[in-house]
Amino acid sequence: MTLITVVGSGRVGTSAALQMALRELGDILLLDVIEGLPQGEALDLNHACSILDLDVAITGSNNFKDMEGSDLVVVTAGLTRKPDMTRLDLLLKNSEIIKDVSSKIREYAPSSKVIVVTNPLDVMSYVAYKTTGFRRERVMGFSGLLDIGRFRYIIKKRLGVSYKSIRSMILGEHGDSMVLLPRYTYVGSSELSSYLDGESIKAIVEETRRAGAEIIRLKGWSAHHAPGAGVSVMAAAILRDWKMVIPASAYLDGEYGERDIYTVVPCVLGRGGVEKILEIKLNQEEDRLFRESVKVLRNALSQLKL
Ligand code: LAC
Repeated sequence: MTLITVVGSGRVGTSAALQMALRELGDILLLDVIEGLPQGEALDLNHACSILDLDVAITGSNNFKDMEGSDLVVVTAGLTRKPDMTRLDLLLKNSEIIKDVSSKIREYAPSSKVIVVTNPLDVMSYVAYKTTGFRRERVMGFSGLLDIGRFRYIIKKRLGVSYKSIRSMILGEHGDSMVLLPRYTYVGSSELSSYLDGESIKAIVEETRRAGAEIIRLKGWSAHHAPGAGVSVMAAAILRDWKMVIPASAYLDGEYGERDIYTVVPCVLGRGGVEKILEIKLNQEEDRLFRESVKVLRNALSQLKL
């Protein structure tokens, strides 16, 4: 039986666990340092699975050794953004947490794939990559599906077409410098620009960029339903070997002319993890925004001792 470990039993971890259970991707282990929390969440989730006839077993534990044999580890541990906090403010605190978790993954789940969800996403993915010492294919960050999910939501509202007909792509930091790509956004088989003028597209891009902060402002804490949904798609793509093109934070080793950095790019996800990084052609403006975004990330990384 496939084993998926979710590190961190907060809202994002438990939401991801539920949505992976809904897809019956495997048994799930919830790990957290808080005693009782993962056990209680596991019990509640098992009851949900019972009601829905989902034959997966969910276990809660405070012992990292229990992740032995994991095929996939989803890392959600860490602090979340409070109102007025940027993702980069979380940098120092969360990097210590991710280092600690990653060294346990290296020890107990040495052949797993790792999906990092903790913010600041791209930097934490880099920390996990460096600390586990795994090949780059096996360590990736979740976020691109979240941001294009938000983008597609607004497009659907404006145009009244099904999500099934809206495809998009994104690059760069999961943060204020994210690079949404209207030119690579299709409604049916036409570019978004054949439906909306430049000003409207700009407004949608801005609204998307602010969506995460808007959720925090409205409800007081950050998104978890959409992150859980996105993680379950990435997990399915890997565990079911879908070879699906998904924007994920991946280690660049020359792709897009960048090296030794994690940032969001289109990836083919399958059994091997990030099996391929796709290099799409950028125009001058997209390229400029992408370089700026990478610069933001390099700056953040330079504040860490790794
Ligand atoms: C978001 C934060 C959590 O985008 O990164 O919702």
